[in-house]
Amino acid sequence: MSKKKLVFSGVQPTGNLHLGNYLGALKNFVSLQKEMECIYCVVDLHAITSFQKPNELEDNVFETVASFLATGIDPNKSIIFNQSSVSGHAELAWILNCVSRIGWLNRMTQFKDKAGSDKEKASVGLYIYPNLMAADILLYKASHVPVGADQKQHLELCRDIAQKFNNDFNCEGFFPLPEPLIQKNVSRVMSLRDGNKKMSKSEESDYSRINLKDTTDEISKKIKKAKSDSEPIPQSLKGLEKKPEALNLVNIYSELSKSSLDKVLNEMSGKEYSFLKTKLAELLINEITPVGKEIKKLLNDKPYLKQVLKKGEEKANIIAEENLKNIREKVGLI
Ligand code: AMP
Ligand code: TRP
Repeated sequence: MSKKKLVFSGVQPTGNLHLGNYLGALKNFVSLQKEMECIYCVVDLHAITSFQKPNELEDNVFETVASFLATGIDPNKSIIFNQSSVSGHAELAWILNCVSRIGWLNRMTQFKDKAGSDKEKASVGLYIYPNLMAADILLYKASHVPVGADQKQHLELCRDIAQKFNNDFNCEGFFPLPEPLIQKNVSRVMSLRDGNKKMSKSEESDYSRINLKDTTDEISKKIKKAKSDSEPIPQSLKGLEKKPEALNLVNIYSELSKSSLDKVLNEMSGKEYSFLKTKLAELLINEITPVGKEIKKLLNDKPYLKQVLKKGEEKANIIAEENLKNIREKVGLI
């Protein structure tokens, strides 16, 4: 059984990365580089489960790579590549389609959310997307997967698929069961307009999210306009129950200021939310605008971004091909 620690995660190239991606995933990607070998993938095959305009998809792949680099992922330490450039992902996904069960996929809440009321019209790709995600992870036999809380159910499915493969082909321990690494406070950054919805790229209003490329002005305006609460900031977390927008702002502030929720509430109780908002905007501007500037700078150097992807592709392919050889053997494919 492989005991090696290896991190794998993926981000869809579907447009503007935002504060949720940053706090829920990217920051964790960066710090994990110190402890483990890491593979970070731009998952374009996942993105096309909903229609993408081809030229926009291409731009978004570069933008996602630039965001990886701008937040601090080091291409000399970690493997950064685009999913479709390593064909093993699609091949293993097919094998896992035959291991995974329809009943398991029917339980996936993200499909239900994304397909909406007319499920008959959703693409087959959107339905079997969790099997492709399992293939991404198992192709490298990754042991740890940093993600936001919205991906927890997909990771549980990946573990079920790995376990069933190991049982079916009588090879206990062949696929390790990957551990999710989910941030504590900020596993789900919520929309600035509706605290019951997660911050998302696809939400119509740009005021619902802080994008990594937002300017100082945009960040200030969005935080000023963010929904909060008419009552002053309470003393304890109990006072934030049923106030999801206020709780979200306090959570983000606590994460960026590196102080506990209790400490933040202690310091701010009795004050209006405008006080918290001014300080929060300052922290966000300090942390996010340098990242945005770096993304824009990197996007002007496409040859460099292509070179990073190419190097990553070569390294990823070596691991993928070696593992696929063994997987094909286990299944009896010659
Ligand atoms: P996606 O943009 O859907 O490919 O997501 C990339 C990563 O960001 C995944 O690990 C997600 O779980 C994470 N993520 C996306 N939205 C949020 C959010 N609002 N809060 C926390 N994490 C998020
Ligand atoms: N499904 C993930 C998302 O939408 C992206 C993803 C694809 C992923 N493959 C992965 C995340 C493998 C972690 C590991 O955010």
